[in-house]
Amino acid sequence: MSNMEVWKSELLRSVRSLRSTDEVVFSSADTVVEIGPPDTSEGRPAYNDPDYWDDRYAPSITSKEGDESDAGNVSSGKGDDVYEWIVKYSDVKSRLAKFLDTTSYPAGLDVLHTGCGNSTLGCDIRSDLASTGVRVVNCDYSSNVIDLMRGLYPSDDWEVLDCLGSAGEQGVGEGYDRIVDKCVLDAFTCGGTEREKRDLVGKYLDFCLGCLRVGGRMIVVSFGQVETRGRYFKGETHGRKEEEWGWWWGGDFEVVDVEGGGKAYVYELCKKT
Ligand SMILES: C[S@@+](CC[C@H](N)C(=O)[O-])C[C@H]1O[C@@H](n2cnc3c(N)ncnc32)[C@H](O)[C@@H]1O
Repeated sequence: MSNMEVWKSELLRSVRSLRSTDEVVFSSADTVVEIGPPDTSEGRPAYNDPDYWDDRYAPSITSKEGDESDAGNVSSGKGDDVYEWIVKYSDVKSRLAKFLDTTSYPAGLDVLHTGCGNSTLGCDIRSDLASTGVRVVNCDYSSNVIDLMRGLYPSDDWEVLDCLGSAGEQGVGEGYDRIVDKCVLDAFTCGGTEREKRDLVGKYLDFCLGCLRVGGRMIVVSFGQVETRGRYFKGETHGRKEEEWGWWWGGDFEVVDVEGGGKAYVYELCKKT
């Protein structure tokens, strides 16, 4: 069984063990499953723990015993090494084209793709929109997955960044115009108490604010419906006064039909201060 198949069956197994449901999650571009409220049952992957992901992306050793030159190599076939959560680029291409429109940006747009994992979304955006002045940096907490993707797509930009840490302390200035999130904020809402989820999402949104220029925007492509996500985009859920909250969200969202069935929810926020 390949790594991807192991992950898929692991996710399905854990999801099936849940007793009640309040959210819908698409475990991949072609599989629709249901996910429940905060879960404490054993065996559920810790999607909200960055270390869980680094382990999950641990390279498969392809070397034969004693062959030092191959030690640590990751599998080189792209097909099995890349994986898309929720949607593929083609599902959100027209929505992203609007979000990344450079018509009013003669100098182009600097885009940060957070929690990229082994998704090719950032590569697809770059190859489609580079000629319009869109530049993409893909980042993830896991050095394992960044090494893998750098090897598979050396023409794209890859960085190890902890999106729950301080952007400034990791050397990221407020230099991005756009942030693309697909299923990353979602990961921080999986498991734990409501307070823990809000704290993680609050830290994540603070990191994103630290990466964006004033007026910069962030798109969140999510499996979460507005009832479960909208609250995170309002400052009061993180104990902030409205004037201290750096984001503006108008309460709007879009529903995107996913090829092969299912839906994804798209939210757009703007950095106001
Ligand atoms: C559900 S996966 C989504 C991957 C990819 N965006 C996609 O849609 O296919 C969540 C990703 O967030 C990354 N992640 C989790 N915590 C992180 C953190 N603190 N900083 C950066 N990336 C993080 C994980 O390593 C993982 O790749």
